[in-house]
Amino acid sequence: MNDFSHPERNRLSHHPLTDGGGAAIAHKNGVVHPSADTRLAGVAVVGLGYWGPNWVRNFQQLQCARRVVACDLDAKRRAHVKELHPAVEATASFDDILRDPEIEGVVIATPVSTHYKLARMALESGKSVLVEKPLAMSRREAGELVRLARGCRRTLMVGHTFLYSAPVLKTREIIQSGELGDIFYISSVRANLGLFQHDVNVAWDLATHDISIILWLLDRVPQAVSCQGQSHYCSEVEDVALLTLHFPDNVIAFIHVSWLDPNKIRRTTIVGSQKMLVYDDTAPQEKLRIYDRGVTMQPYYDTFGEFQFSYRYGDILIPRLDESEPLRQECAHFVDCIRTGNQPRTDGVNGLQVVSVLEAANLSMRESGRMVPVKYITV
Ligand SMILES: NC(=O)c1ccc[n+]([C@@H]2O[C@H](COP(=O)([O-])OP(=O)(O)OC[C@H]3O[C@@H](n4cnc5c(N)ncnc54)[C@H](O)[C@@H]3O)[C@@H](O)[C@H]2O)c1
Repeated sequence: MNDFSHPERNRLSHHPLTDGGGAAIAHKNGVVHPSADTRLAGVAVVGLGYWGPNWVRNFQQLQCARRVVACDLDAKRRAHVKELHPAVEATASFDDILRDPEIEGVVIATPVSTHYKLARMALESGKSVLVEKPLAMSRREAGELVRLARGCRRTLMVGHTFLYSAPVLKTREIIQSGELGDIFYISSVRANLGLFQHDVNVAWDLATHDISIILWLLDRVPQAVSCQGQSHYCSEVEDVALLTLHFPDNVIAFIHVSWLDPNKIRRTTIVGSQKMLVYDDTAPQEKLRIYDRGVTMQPYYDTFGEFQFSYRYGDILIPRLDESEPLRQECAHFVDCIRTGNQPRTDGVNGLQVVSVLEAANLSMRESGRMVPVKYITV
């Protein structure tokens, strides 16, 4: 186990998004029809609770596999998905999926505590796997999945869905263009009432999104994390938390997450030395705003060592976004990576980095917010 001490190793691994639709030949009513030879023989979605049916829908709409198999232990969830998508096959047996030679890719959309075991079994059966966020419950488990996928040369991808969303991609482009100047800090709020998870706290559930977004935007990983949280309903399952991520070069990020907020808030503010950007994911349109605002510090010559500040209140720019459903992009990318062997943008290493931050945050939370160095394992 090694610390990431070298700056280059503090950078994220990432990969360009290829056109996951493969040789798509027509778009009609939002459905992409790929040429038959580019389709996978079969894909499976395991877990048909709140999120899994969205995967089934996207596989169906993209028509990127000849067979789509939907799996859940709960007969009602299987019946629900069958009603929505009659052409989909339904099963209660994960083993049947593992034994099915036509299933090339498996999406694991079950509770987080089951991710490692199910993903491991799928990889060991020769399947490519997409694990919903977060990849696993610990660095050790996440690292093992990365090693296993490499060993059997299968795709391992993580459901960091926001890295396939237009506002996040545009924000990264804006940061990389230098328009905001040096990034001072990022502040993110992700709050609403519910949905409580039973096996992970609110940091593992909601802050996973913000951590994956912030690492992607800054193109680096934090050195240390502090986190405070509190549980009000289930013991040791914190329903509100505040994380602070410390990056090199004095860059800091704050993430506030809650399952106990009367309003649904999904807002990220990025403050740079030149401009500021606000990303409001709940806005129906115009999710991004760039504020030409800032502070200039000028020496105050009467008194040595004193400064005066001048504040700039310039224009607000709303960048145009070509929006489409992020999960659709992610789904197409997963299929494309299976077909081509390309490394996914949100690969296992990316999932491992996010889990490493979450693990440090959990430790900090148990120790009243102590700043905990993030340990990254080399795989
Ligand atoms: N990427 C995103 O934006 C996003 C959004 C929501 C949830 N998620 C993730 O999706 C996953 C599922 O979350 P959810 O809210 O849908 O959970 P959920 O509890 O609503 O659904 C989980 C389903 O998995 C089934 N299940 C459990 N063990 C199983 C097994 N061994 N075999 C087959 N089925 C099994 C359950 O019966 C249940 O129907 C979690 O990892 C969560 O973090 C991701």
